[in-house]
Amino acid sequence: MWTMRSPAGSDVLIIGGGLIGLAAAWRTAVRGLSVTICDPAPGSNASFAAAGMLTPVTELHYGEETLLSLNLASAKRYPSFIEELREASDGLDPGYREAGTLVVAFDADDREVLSELHVFQQSLGLKAEWLTGREARRLEPMLAPGVRGGLLVSGDHQVDNRMLLAALFAALERDPKVTIVRSKVAELTVTGDRATGVVLEDGTALPAAQVVLSAGCWSGQIAGIPEELLPPVRPIKGQILRLAIPDVFKPFLSRTVRYVVRNNHAYLVPRAHGELVLGATVEEQDYDTAVTAGGVYELLRDARELVPGITELPLIETRAALRPGTPDNAPLIGPTALPGLLYATGHYRHGVLLTPATADGVAEILATGTVPEALAPFSPRRFEHHQK
Ligand code: GLY
Repeated sequence: MWTMRSPAGSDVLIIGGGLIGLAAAWRTAVRGLSVTICDPAPGSNASFAAAGMLTPVTELHYGEETLLSLNLASAKRYPSFIEELREASDGLDPGYREAGTLVVAFDADDREVLSELHVFQQSLGLKAEWLTGREARRLEPMLAPGVRGGLLVSGDHQVDNRMLLAALFAALERDPKVTIVRSKVAELTVTGDRATGVVLEDGTALPAAQVVLSAGCWSGQIAGIPEELLPPVRPIKGQILRLAIPDVFKPFLSRTVRYVVRNNHAYLVPRAHGELVLGATVEEQDYDTAVTAGGVYELLRDARELVPGITELPLIETRAALRPGTPDNAPLIGPTALPGLLYATGHYRHGVLLTPATADGVAEILATGTVPEALAPFSPRRFEHHQK
């Protein structure tokens, strides 16, 4: 095994305990390295708020074909990743559900948007079935009578991100090579020409042979990282709601339903245990995390157009969290120009989906020094010398 041992401290220190940092820690420890994760509130923010859609085909965007390849690879890895995690967490259920995804349109213009998406999907050889409104309603009887048609993607699934977090915590707790430090990193330590650890807010120095930055939208704010290497991540606010599905309405929806209403895109993700996640706004509001009346109103208004029965459900949670956006909407994964410093950040709208591919890739780099081919396009070095 290729590894540079730290004289005292961990082989690897991970800044940030979201899904990416926790999963990278798990996979790295599986490779035999000791890992310390630093985060004042691990498992919170976007990782906790997310809907957990694993929908590379229905969330396809023009110009993002390279990202699609990684998204598909990560979706494919999910079942085995979940099984390994179930075993590592002593039998916890990480909440993975293969139920497929339906995307529906509200009016004729929205149907045109879906039709174009379908053509694009087909041009890339992706599997998606065009449905009439009637066919869509047959699959999901709660859909409004006026629904204009849809796309059924049987291969797009979901995971309950909160159950996934719980399973990851359990797996990490059981591994003596892993330490979670519930503190904020104040500064990266650079000795000579390499990253050699971090200093916490209380002044504690934690040395490490290699440091991974996975602090989501705060990744660009760590002192000590040379200015020209700071990752260009920015916060993209998402407001998201959770509703309860009383027994009398179950199953309410049988699969994830994404929809386009007057060119607004949103989604409903039904959990097996009777929760319905309704998301999400996409807002450039700096680091603001207020839940606004307007945000909640728009989400409910659009959902009601396609699934009128939603107004009957108890609203049990409103939340806003910050996604880490990047200039090209793709993550930054891999070594930086500073030896000993890696990035695993900037996953924007695909953090949950990309958790397995990122975690495996980071563990491979940390353990062997080799960047997997699939991660090469996502090198952080593509943004070196950017102007923040
Ligand atoms: N991937 C879902 C979202 O970012 O809202």
